Amino acid sequence: MNAKTLCAGFGLCLLAACTTPERDFDVDEALSYCDGQVRRTLAELKGTDDSIDYTMMPRNIADSLDSWHCRKAAKEEWCSGFWPGILWYDYEATGDEAVREEAEQFTASLKFLSETPAFDHDLGFLVFCSYGNGYRLTHNPEYKQVLLNTADTLATLFNPRVGTILSWPRNVALYGGHNTIMDNMINLELLFWAAKNGGDPHLAEIAVSHADTTMKYHFRPDYSSYHVAVYDTLSGRFLRGVTHQGHADSSMWARGQAWAIYGYTVVYRETRDERYLDFVQKVADVYLKRLPEDYIPYWDFDDPAIPDAPRDASAACVVASALLELSTYLPGDKGEEYRAAAINMLASLSSDPYRCGDAKPAFLLHSTGHKPAGSEIDASIIYADYYYIEALLRLKKMTEQ
Ligand code: GLY
Repeated sequence: MNAKTLCAGFGLCLLAACTTPERDFDVDEALSYCDGQVRRTLAELKGTDDSIDYTMMPRNIADSLDSWHCRKAAKEEWCSGFWPGILWYDYEATGDEAVREEAEQFTASLKFLSETPAFDHDLGFLVFCSYGNGYRLTHNPEYKQVLLNTADTLATLFNPRVGTILSWPRNVALYGGHNTIMDNMINLELLFWAAKNGGDPHLAEIAVSHADTTMKYHFRPDYSSYHVAVYDTLSGRFLRGVTHQGHADSSMWARGQAWAIYGYTVVYRETRDERYLDFVQKVADVYLKRLPEDYIPYWDFDDPAIPDAPRDASAACVVASALLELSTYLPGDKGEEYRAAAINMLASLSSDPYRCGDAKPAFLLHSTGHKPAGSEIDASIIYADYYYIEALLRLKKMTEQ
């Protein structure tokens, strides 16, 4: 049975299980589209002299432009791991050795991150998306060492009095204390991985402490999240929840909530502690309940400009990927509801209004990076593409089981 037929079958089951049945969706067509766009990007990066600067990573394509803006891999550039990660996923989907060679070359440009002190918490994004996927697919021992060293580096930001990793050392004075951002949940996966793969077992305890402290302080009673939690550095006391990239301190910034859904799904996978499984459903449900009809959130659920506010396709990609995994831990109606929601997100993302198509070499349009700073609004952004192809591969594997 191919993926499309199977999806259609599930859709019928879901008519009884939830109000919105999943849409028909062809995952193979979507993966083939991604492969075509990857090849266009590689051709663009090669330029006319057929050579690539492997330290320059595609980051975004502004709404008004049609070619990638690249940024040099650097400790301050949090998005450098996504393009190598996309190449690894495309290699996984196609088995094309030429794509693997490109993935290796871009990945190698990030090795310096395992050899320098931590700049901030983004080491998980940077190194797990690149080296982590590379190691998963190749078992290259050099990749393993980079991952283990980077996990140790990330752990240097842990403050045991607070119980979390300091996300932005550079912003301690700005926020008046130890700051932890919701995005930081994604970096816990590297610590869990290292603890299980020859690293210090204490790394998993750091990850659990971070998850528990974040669960306690970083959410409002309705399970929507703050972007930033500020703690007293010395006493560890929670001081306040504020925003950095959202509309307001009290609003639900879409990608922040997406990081929370993804992060607690990983924490449940790694611990099998039912507290996290229960919690992540609440965090997911407040997000799902407030989505517009096409399943792609506005950049912040509380922007008063809605429905004229920009969307954030990247949040939809992160949540689609997370919900596909989460659905496998929840047999019965709830799992089916999450799976259907994820497929509906992917169906929307794969439709003409959200696809770059021939216009640009990225996969997707309409992501929003940092609206309050006026940056990457309604753009193609590399992390949207990364979580999109990850979600497609997850769905493909699920339908083939
Ligand atoms: N980690 C930064 C962001 O989600 O924009």
